[in-house]
This record gives sequence, C-alpha cells and structure tokens, in this order.
Amino acid sequence: MSGSRLPGFYKLSVAERRALVAERSGVDPQALASALDGGGIDCATADKLVENVLGTYALPFGVALNVQVNGTDRLVPMVVEEPSVIAAASNAARMVRSAGGFTAEMTEALMIAQIELRGLADVELALRLLANETEHLLTVARGAVPNLIERGGGPRSIELRRLEKGRIVVHVLVDCRDAMGANLVNSIAEAVGPVAAGITGAELGLRILSNLSDRRAARVTCRVHPTDLVLSRAKPTFGVGDSAPPSGPSAALTGDAIADGIVAASEFAEADPYRAATHNKGIMNGIDAVVIATGNDFRAVEAGAHAYAALSGRYRPLSVWRRDGEALVGELTLPLALGIVGGTLRVHPAARLALSLVRVDSADELALVAASVGLASNLAALRALATEGIQRGHMSLHARSVAVAAGAQGSEVELVAGRLSEDGSVTLEAARRALSALRGT
Ligand code: MEV
Repeated sequence: MSGSRLPGFYKLSVAERRALVAERSGVDPQALASALDGGGIDCATADKLVENVLGTYALPFGVALNVQVNGTDRLVPMVVEEPSVIAAASNAARMVRSAGGFTAEMTEALMIAQIELRGLADVELALRLLANETEHLLTVARGAVPNLIERGGGPRSIELRRLEKGRIVVHVLVDCRDAMGANLVNSIAEAVGPVAAGITGAELGLRILSNLSDRRAARVTCRVHPTDLVLSRAKPTFGVGDSAPPSGPSAALTGDAIADGIVAASEFAEADPYRAATHNKGIMNGIDAVVIATGNDFRAVEAGAHAYAALSGRYRPLSVWRRDGEALVGELTLPLALGIVGGTLRVHPAARLALSLVRVDSADELALVAASVGLASNLAALRALATEGIQRGHMSLHARSVAVAAGAQGSEVELVAGRLSEDGSVTLEAARRALSALRGT
C-alpha cells in the first residue's frame, strides 16, 4: 500500500473517497461499493445471524488516515456514530506519524478458559492433585479443539488460582491464532471441567472464557514533538472544521505548554477514577470503532478494558502521558482479543471489507492497529481538553451538518459552515441567511 496520508480527503464526495481508498488499498471499487451500500448487511443475512429479526440498523463507516504502526501505513476502518472521532484520530495520528508513528506489540497472545471448582474441603490437596495432572488436563483440552491444533494453536499451559470458601479456578491458557476464540475457549473449558472436578472430587462450577484477557494484551507507545501539537491549531484536533484559528487564551499556547497540559490531564486521570473513566472512554472511542468495523465483539473488548483498568484494586487510566526530554510520550496497554476469522466475519460483507482495507495478516496485528487508534483518540481528546476544550471541534462539525440541512451543496457546505462558526451562531436560520448571501439571492 502506498500510504495512509490523504490530505483533503474529508473535502471529497463519498464517491471520490471510495475511489481513492479503493486505489490505495487495492480493493476492487465495485466490491467496496457493494459491501457498503445498504448498510453492509442485508435483512436475509441478518435473519441468519440473530433471532427475531425485523431489519438492520446501519452506522457510519469511515476510515482513519495517517496511521502508521511499526513502520507500516494503515487505512483504518472505523464504524461510529459520534462526530469528530474519526477526524480526531486521524489528526492525532498525523502528529504521531511525524515523530515516527506508533510502536506496538502484544505482551502475549493467550486466551483464558476458566473452570470453577467449588466445595473443596482441602484446597491445598486439590491444588496438588491438579498440579500433578497438568499434562492430562492439557491433553483433554487439546482433544476439544483438533482444528485449532491443526492451525498451530491450542492450549499452552494450566494455571491454578485459589479463591475463598473452598474454591479453585483452573485457567487453561489457549493460543487461538487468528480467531477471537470465544467458542474454542468455551469448548476447552467444558471438556476440561468434568475431568478437573473428577481429579479433585469438587463440585463443578462454571466453565467459560474470561473476558479479562490480560494474557492477550496490546501495548502501544508513541512520541509527539510539541511543535506538532501547535501546528494543527488552525484545525480543532477533536474535529475537522476548517474554521478560523481559536481566539482567547488557548490561541497563545506553545507546544511545550500543550504537552505539559496533556501530562497534567494524564495525572488527573491517574489520581481520580471519575476522570479515569472519561479518559478511558476517549481511548475506547477509537478502539470500539475499529472493533465494530471489523466484526469483532465490542462488549468483550469493553469488559476486558475496564476490568483491566481496575485490576490494581483501583480504577486507573489505560494510558499514561509523560515528557521525555522535549518529547511528549504516551503509552497504552489493554487486553485486546480480536479475530480476523470466524464469527460475524463469515457473514458480514462490510466487516470483510474492513479487513481488506486495513490489510492485516493476523488477529494480533489488528489488535495493534486498534490500540494505536485508541492512543490517537486519547491524544486528540487530551490535546483538545488541555487547550480550547472539545466543543469548538464539535460545533464546527455541527455547523457543516446544519449547512447541509439549510440546502448548501458541494463547496457551499464548507463556506456556510465557516461563516456560522466565525459568527458563533450555528442555527438553521443563520445557515439559510449565510447560504443566500453566498448565492447572492
Ligand atoms: C468524548 O467522546 C470523549 C472525551 O470525553 C474523552 C476525554 O474526556 O478524554 C473527550
């Protein structure tokens, strides 16, 4: 692929954007159009996917630009209903790109199958018996997923955890390769459960994966030159508006001051769970959009992210920002169990298209891209909050939709929206007046 820098992309029509993205990604333009027209999935397919179907429900499908992860450019598909999220991630990714892009890695890539054993009179004895039978348990686990073994994955090890009140939890750690792995892991849990109960004489409890997939976590870091935090000041980082540069105190902020403001915002989140929740929401804005676009289970990802944020016993931000010499440095770690085979992907044409746009070779590579977009979203939000607040970006996007509602077409949209933002009055009436002034009617 020849890059994810597409300056002026937002000004193009949908048809022009499709043509450009098809060219950059090598996806057939016809395939792109047919995957996205009509909301990405037809009613008959939806009827096979879930129950009691009445129809389908579409959301906007866009792409984040400028994203570079481990030296590779990615056009990143995002499905999200919130204005500004895609633009903000793209803007922040551009700042990161100019300092070398995102560096990302999976800490490990193992899912957890949980088997709960209850009512044990002698927990120590049960732990010893299970430890002695580890190989046997792994053999049973392997027998439950022959196809996964053929693909080079499978159960890797067993861990035992002691809980209160005569309870033990057996964890089977499973390499699910390119699948998210919920079904594989649940099959393993159900196969191993009765065997583990038999070994210990315990009452068999629950057998299910854990969504706190902290053994399948993505870690992403990035650097930003403070000067780049200023350069984009003419455009709000939490939006795409083309309106005038900010006036007031934020207009005078230096890159250093903005970088320090982002560090202070990070420290606020580190000190206060109420702020940490919103900080993390800003990260998940980017991650969920990629997760949904690629047909993955966003509830699983959300559950894992927030459980991980609270793992120390106190809810914390998933990312931290600091200065390293001149540079601003961000680091994000979170569990990210994604798949590029199976599940919704089998049947959802837009999810398959999303994967062909992002062009990853493995599920873990997709997780690294999604995590990078999460860190970009976080940077954009903190930059906006540390400077002009997020409303200006939101308002300039809102101005564009009001301009369209007033009848503006083509290049009129930006001109009318710019006038509304400048005047600080984003109403339909003002848009109609601006449009008729523009047309000289
Ligand atoms: C809005 O969707 C996300 C933010 O609230 C995130 C944050 O406060 O860091 C702007």
